[in-house]
Amino acid sequence: MSPTLRTRIACTVYPSAGAAALAVADELRARLAGYPSLVLGLPTGNTPVPFYQELSRLHRAGLLSLAQATSFNLDEYLGLAPGDPRSFRAWMQTQLFSQVDLPANRTHLPDPVEPAAAPEESRRYEQLIREVGGIDWMLLGIGRNGHIGFNEPGSARTSRTRLVELEAKTIADAAKTFGGEQHVPRRAITMGIGTILEARAIRVMAFGSAKAEIVQRALTAEPTELVPASLLAGHADVRFLLDAESAQLLGQ
Ligand code: GLP
Repeated sequence: MSPTLRTRIACTVYPSAGAAALAVADELRARLAGYPSLVLGLPTGNTPVPFYQELSRLHRAGLLSLAQATSFNLDEYLGLAPGDPRSFRAWMQTQLFSQVDLPANRTHLPDPVEPAAAPEESRRYEQLIREVGGIDWMLLGIGRNGHIGFNEPGSARTSRTRLVELEAKTIADAAKTFGGEQHVPRRAITMGIGTILEARAIRVMAFGSAKAEIVQRALTAEPTELVPASLLAGHADVRFLLDAESAQLLGQ
């Protein structure tokens, strides 16, 4: 832990990604114990994998139930067939939904609609979030370009759920999953930064030295739409959870 770090956004540095994931899972378990019908905002990516593994373990051990919870994922690719194994829906099914007791009808991701239908799908998603009273606890990762969800640099602080075009860096990072950059979808639907900022609590995980530079910019720079994660600075309950590698440029 590093209480001396001077950052614009609260952060805790853990000895390892696994230790950070345990801490986040523990916080969620405690919140669920007090309020089982929690509404969760959830990310995909490599970063949350140890967190989802820990939730699955806690559930198998009888220590965690999501039976009354609801989830909303941040984003989904467009241009994939429904059920495509590379979709975020399929990824969530494997990593979490099939491992815990979250009812299928309360797991939400944007539907991979045709681009022309994206505005309507985006309004539907926002409406669903409003109907359940908003997101209580939102977990995020961060892209190497500072994106949260798929809010690429330049996304407005007030942006809502919408269709976005992915940046070259984002496409390059997804190339492995898709078997080459040419197969990566160019578009997605993502919750907006305004949507994310309405969550009552926000936790951001970032691990590894590849994230060190963007973590430093997000946490120490003047908030700017050029680094979307830096816009979290004004939120009342936000915290970054880092490992030593992603935190290595802080405090310099
Ligand atoms: C993806 C997702 C983000 C995620 C980010 C980082 O594109 N849309 O929600 O936080 O990239 O991914 P990773 O955790 O694999 O580094």
